[in-house]
Amino acid sequence: MISCPSVTQREIRGHYELSTLFYWLLWGRHIHHGLWEGDESPAQAQQQLTETLCQLGRIQPGNRVLDVGCGMGGSSIHLAKQVGCEVTGVTLSRVQQTWASTSALFHGVSRLTRFLRGDAERVEFPPGSFDVVWSIECTEHLFDKPAFFRRAADWLVPGGRMAICAWLAGDGLDDPARARQVYDVCEGFLCPSLGSFDDYRGWMTEAGLIVEETCDWTDRVWRTWEICRDRVAKSRVRWLAKCLDKNSVLFLDRFDTILNAYKTKAMRYGCLIATKPAERMSR
Ligand SMILES: C[S@@+](CC[C@H](N)C(=O)[O-])C[C@H]1O[C@@H](n2cnc3c(N)ncnc32)[C@H](O)[C@@H]1O
Repeated sequence: MISCPSVTQREIRGHYELSTLFYWLLWGRHIHHGLWEGDESPAQAQQQLTETLCQLGRIQPGNRVLDVGCGMGGSSIHLAKQVGCEVTGVTLSRVQQTWASTSALFHGVSRLTRFLRGDAERVEFPPGSFDVVWSIECTEHLFDKPAFFRRAADWLVPGGRMAICAWLAGDGLDDPARARQVYDVCEGFLCPSLGSFDDYRGWMTEAGLIVEETCDWTDRVWRTWEICRDRVAKSRVRWLAKCLDKNSVLFLDRFDTILNAYKTKAMRYGCLIATKPAERMSR
């Protein structure tokens, strides 16, 4: 695991309060990578990532889903509208909570969705509240990841599933230059730490879950950053970032760093599916 202790939750919240509109303008309603198979448009590639996680997680109509770090509600609305799930989204950001609720209304799924502003590391739900805990690109921002997985496992019903996509620490990180690259990503993108595939498998297993599937999508997602870099270069976003704060500038400056980290496998991008064992019948 690579850690960046200078990141604070205040900065993470501030980033999403300020930048949600820019994410939407630059990238669309999903704040996550695209998953490419060929020459699809970025919007289609983003949708593909959501749909692929949905298939791998075997999300069913009527499932009660917790969307941890729900952003503008892109996944939550997809799961409600296309699959017929009942979704609770949690985000640190008030702007995103309002955005997601309004968007759900616009898509006609406000009765199947609710959006809470809260900290996934402190929010409380009764044990067994959800059939699925879903999270795309939020666990990077969590400070105590093992504790989060223990709590999230408790929120699942026996037989429930966890479906996660995450930015990961990759290979060869005993080389200081490679470790520095990942540290720079953590600093620029406000991640207190990045765990590896093995770290995530370990945290899930310690939480009592059975890891069923892991997919390495590194080579199918890195194009995201080439496209974002080109879009920033062609727009006035950098000028706007300078007017906002130093973190926004640092964020834009680190697009090449993350792109190189993926290409050299100092970072990886992964999907993990895990199941909570069903309770055994006592004789
Ligand atoms: C990269 S965005 C991903 C958003 C969304 N999952 C998507 O795919 O469009 C990260 C999200 O995690 C949320 N987040 C970060 N730390 C969080 C925390 N401690 N509790 C709840 N949400 C958090 C942010 O507010 C943001 O919505």
